[in-house]
Amino acid sequence: MPSSSTDQTLAVQVVDSMERMSGKHPGYRRSSARGACFRATFTPSGAAAVLTTAAHLQARTVAATVRFSNSEGNPHTPDTAPVTRGMATRFHLHDGSDTDLVALTVPRFVASTPGEFLLLTEALRPDPVTHQPDLARVHAFVGAHPHLAEAVAQQPPIPVSYASAAFWAIHAFIWVDVAGVRRPVRYRWEPEAGRTELTAAEAATRTAHYLTDELHQRLEHAPVAFKLRIQLAEPDDATHDPSTVWPDHRKEITAGRLEITAPADDQDPWNTQAFNPTRVTSGIQLSDDPVLAFRAHAYAESHLRRSRNQ
Ligand code: HEM
Repeated sequence: MPSSSTDQTLAVQVVDSMERMSGKHPGYRRSSARGACFRATFTPSGAAAVLTTAAHLQARTVAATVRFSNSEGNPHTPDTAPVTRGMATRFHLHDGSDTDLVALTVPRFVASTPGEFLLLTEALRPDPVTHQPDLARVHAFVGAHPHLAEAVAQQPPIPVSYASAAFWAIHAFIWVDVAGVRRPVRYRWEPEAGRTELTAAEAATRTAHYLTDELHQRLEHAPVAFKLRIQLAEPDDATHDPSTVWPDHRKEITAGRLEITAPADDQDPWNTQAFNPTRVTSGIQLSDDPVLAFRAHAYAESHLRRSRNQ
């Protein structure tokens, strides 16, 4: 991936700002700090094979590792909080390489560019007295960036279970077929258990780690499955803005089925790993979305700091 010193400088500024927003928690990811990893397999349906040469979307089942997380940068944020949740999937390809798909429980991102994200994290910095964000600053940010109003106002569901939430990879990616034809797509994990969520009152009766505990209990009885749904762009659909979505009626296909079978044997090695949404494989390319390209730099900066126990 091309890298520039501008991106790296901005990544340092963004990660500094994320630390001011969520507090500094040495050794933890600067976002999605608390999570747990699970073993899985992914079986392609074959429907994507005519659209991309990506190895895991052809015919053979591949092993995968999934990390579910609470998206907050503070590892002590309880699962009962109305925040987004993460689902990071690493597909272990038969040639020994990996490719990642990183997703959240909302379809839109809260910024169209890395610079906007920096401004938003600064607006969300807690007031030193109340320890809460100053809503006037958030409103001022939205007032200055009205195209982000819908994305910032999204209410993430409080899921009954990680197994009953949909997860969007948000950005457009480009699929390339065997003839070199390029097609923009968007990914969504759709839970086979259906989407179910808690009210705030119901959530208040759950424990701080109920989502991870529930998933462990559920897996003692049966695997948990998700369909990988792919939305196909039409010619004029923009690919550069992760705060926008394509119309719901765009054609979709099911590219495959993920089956989560058990907790990962050892969580520790996974805590030192970094998922990376730009870790694509042959047959998949990054779109022109500047946030997608920038994430590689921000994640590397976060990984560097936590690997030094900072
Ligand atoms: C400017 C945009 C963004 C920035 C700066 C950012 C920043 C970060 C950082 C610093 C981490 C921790 C990385 C690590 O230490 O390994 C992280 C993790 C994560 N981010 Fe983002 N993020 C951005 C956009 C997004 C978007 C658009 C999504 C969803 C599509 C997303 C989903 C996640 C998830 C699920 C994780 C946890 C990954 C894991 O389990 O290791 N982020 N993000």
